[in-house]
Amino acid sequence: MARSAARHPYPWPGVIEAYRSYLPVSAKTPIVTLLEGNTPLIRSRVLSRRVGASAEVYLKYEGMNPTGSFKDRGMTLAISKAVEEKSAAVLCASTGNTSASASAYAARAGLRSIVLIPSGAIALGKLSQALIHGARIASVEANFDACLALVKSLAQMHPITIVNSINPYRIEGQKTCAFEICDALGRAPDIHITPVGNAGNITAQWRGYREYRANGKTRTLPTMLGFQAEGAAPLVKGKIIANPKTIATAIKIGNPASWQGAISASEESHGFIRAVSDREILDAYRLLAAEDGVFVEPASAASVAGLLKLAHAGYFKSAAARRRSRLVIVCIVTGHGLKDPERAIKSIRVPKPLPPSLSAISKAVGLH
Ligand code: F0G
Repeated sequence: MARSAARHPYPWPGVIEAYRSYLPVSAKTPIVTLLEGNTPLIRSRVLSRRVGASAEVYLKYEGMNPTGSFKDRGMTLAISKAVEEKSAAVLCASTGNTSASASAYAARAGLRSIVLIPSGAIALGKLSQALIHGARIASVEANFDACLALVKSLAQMHPITIVNSINPYRIEGQKTCAFEICDALGRAPDIHITPVGNAGNITAQWRGYREYRANGKTRTLPTMLGFQAEGAAPLVKGKIIANPKTIATAIKIGNPASWQGAISASEESHGFIRAVSDREILDAYRLLAAEDGVFVEPASAASVAGLLKLAHAGYFKSAAARRRSRLVIVCIVTGHGLKDPERAIKSIRVPKPLPPSLSAISKAVGLH
């Protein structure tokens, strides 16, 4: 397979400068950036082997963005436009990562940030980010969907810019993930797998692939596969889930704002949106960390859990047979594992303190 990866600008200028001609910015837009994007596309030997069928599986490690998740791609644009439009404050509801990103970019721009989070339901790392970046935080006794409804009402009462993905600039910025994948591979992947929560990301990625093809950068489009957590799978069930449940708090969402965008992405690309259980998510989470050296947060592992589930069901063998070629699969892993240290600690046995004795230490670490 001939591959001529496009050359990235160096030093990396952040996604707006790197993909300016694809984004709604002008010479007047003040660019607020933390040099997000240009995240690693890592070939996974473990997953390629597990999938078989001469597949090449890559992980797009979005946790390597400045605030540790893919949200930074959309936030650089949303905050830049908020500054251009002379907004004094930005507002979001969040399961954690959006609030971390919004508060960091707002701090950099000198804007006030206000975040509504479902009380007790966001990972500690994310909460600490919003706190240290100086967000005004309302910890609300309600789930994410209710927080987002409250955010919409607040924005009608005050001149504040919403920076959830209902802000169209967020989707525009997030499509750069697809551009980077195509640039790195020198082509579009055959299959793109991503976790789905509020559904902005899959909507954005599909738009990115379509724009790259329309501009002659690529010749094909990937099949888009989205995975939700079983207890928070409104797109799979075809109805709003009033009380979503999953350990993957980032995607604990029952009424996704970009519902139609996700359905269009999956249908137009001949893909689908399915569910994975919490157990499947945690198995994939541990496998990625233990066998691939890639530490992601639980929600991010939903894409890999989906990949493994489909591999088990023989999906890729028939996909490869249909294409008569090597399958290139990209799994988006959306957020860094350090966001949720509590989950990592719960997932393994934490070592007990030992006396400083060589024999006790040797025994404990298996050096007999
Ligand atoms: N993965 C992570 C780590 C996330 O934080 C999110 C969403 C998703 C996947 C799903 O992406 O919503 O575009 O379908 N987090 C949002 C937040 C909702 O508030 O941080 P999506």
